[in-house]
Amino acid sequence: PLSQLFSKSTTSCSRMVRANIYPTRALSSSVTPIKISVFSRPFSSNVIRNGATIRPVTVRPRSISTQISFTEAAPFLCQRRCISYPSLRRSEVLSVLGSASSHLSNNVPASIIDKIERREAALHVTPNHPLSIIRTSIENYWKTKHPSIKFDSFNDLSPIVSVKQNFDDLLIPQDHVSRSQSDTYYVDDTRVLRTHTSAHQSDILKLSKAFLVSGDVYRRDEIDSSHYPIFHQMEGVRIFDGEVSEQDIVSDLKEGLEGLALTLFGDVEMRWVDAYFPFTNPSFELEIYYGGEWLEVLGCGVVQRKILNDAGLVKEKGWAFGLGLERLAMVLFSIPDIRLFWSEDSRFTSQFVDEKVTKFIPYSKYPPCLKDISFWIDSGEAATSLQGRRPYHANDFNEAVRTVAGDLVERVELVDSFTNPKTGRKSHCYRITYRSMDRNLTNVEIDDLQTKVREFVADNLEVELR
Ligand code: DAH
Repeated sequence: PLSQLFSKSTTSCSRMVRANIYPTRALSSSVTPIKISVFSRPFSSNVIRNGATIRPVTVRPRSISTQISFTEAAPFLCQRRCISYPSLRRSEVLSVLGSASSHLSNNVPASIIDKIERREAALHVTPNHPLSIIRTSIENYWKTKHPSIKFDSFNDLSPIVSVKQNFDDLLIPQDHVSRSQSDTYYVDDTRVLRTHTSAHQSDILKLSKAFLVSGDVYRRDEIDSSHYPIFHQMEGVRIFDGEVSEQDIVSDLKEGLEGLALTLFGDVEMRWVDAYFPFTNPSFELEIYYGGEWLEVLGCGVVQRKILNDAGLVKEKGWAFGLGLERLAMVLFSIPDIRLFWSEDSRFTSQFVDEKVTKFIPYSKYPPCLKDISFWIDSGEAATSLQGRRPYHANDFNEAVRTVAGDLVERVELVDSFTNPKTGRKSHCYRITYRSMDRNLTNVEIDDLQTKVREFVADNLEVELR
């Protein structure tokens, strides 16, 4: 095998990867190019693509230094222990989203693309931003309190992942609701905007035994003070070699995460709750008693055997956890509305500095404006009359409102739902709360928005306005 023939000296990570490979024993100095077909981990076939040609560049009596160049290397595969990930070029993400926008399966709205486009960097890596402050304080906790683990950090992985990475690799069942078009943003048939940072678990398991992945994640969801279609998560994974019992793994996991909660929240009461995630077994959630209520902080568990096997780790065992950065930051910084994280108003941004968790001082809250909208959500005829069209889902309406009103929409609530006993038709009435974070909205402006919402809904959803 080539792995016995060569020892590698350097690799560098960029779109173009170069590796100097030195033979470990004398090779014939007749330097015909060598075709590579397979390489062993961590230099898997993803890195050296089948058929890549090694061209010798230096010939010395007992060694040949060869340099290979190839493009499109799997971007996550880098040197152990000093992992540098090629930073995500936002323009590339945007160009994929742009070019796939007419694909039949694409349901990524312009408002999402706009959000990515408007920021120079993702919020969790923006200096002096609460989400970045929380991320670094979690990374620092592991670094200082558990220095022997040596987590690799990945903060710049592209949010566009395959359906396989986001769902299949994590053993999420084919009929799981999270796979549906009403819950997930599809770029095309095979790619999604990741719905969780767990999407990178399987790939990174192939090269790292302990890692943290933070990133922006995307879900079609409700609209209220704690839900926003883009939010941020951190995933953590630790792999153990050799004979470790499941009990030891669970103890290590719980001890590490309890320490994290204490570091973030101070001396709080905590409890472990049994949970279910397709990718861990057993699975748990950690809750803390904070501000008079039990608050779920994170999910975690022992990584499923099959996930490890699929990554080539047939003997190893490990744990994983996942947490939402907004959820923690809203509590720790007392940030009352999730939209504030996106604010560019200096009254928000100037309040925070790196490495310090401080309470947000609210500036005047502008008055809200409520508007109702009602529509029939079906024709009352049998579902077959939809002729292959997707039935109405509340998330479609939420997104329509978001598309028209952007961050001026604070909340969308279903306030009434009834079925006409004669026709069997179903009707929904929603209350939309409009409010700006940084200015007064005029009546004229809101009326205009509401009219546009009605028009947009009538034109784009399978409903009939009342
Ligand atoms: N991916 C889960 C979510 O988005 C969070 C999670 C739970 C991650 C358990 C994990 C885990 O790694 O073990 O809700």
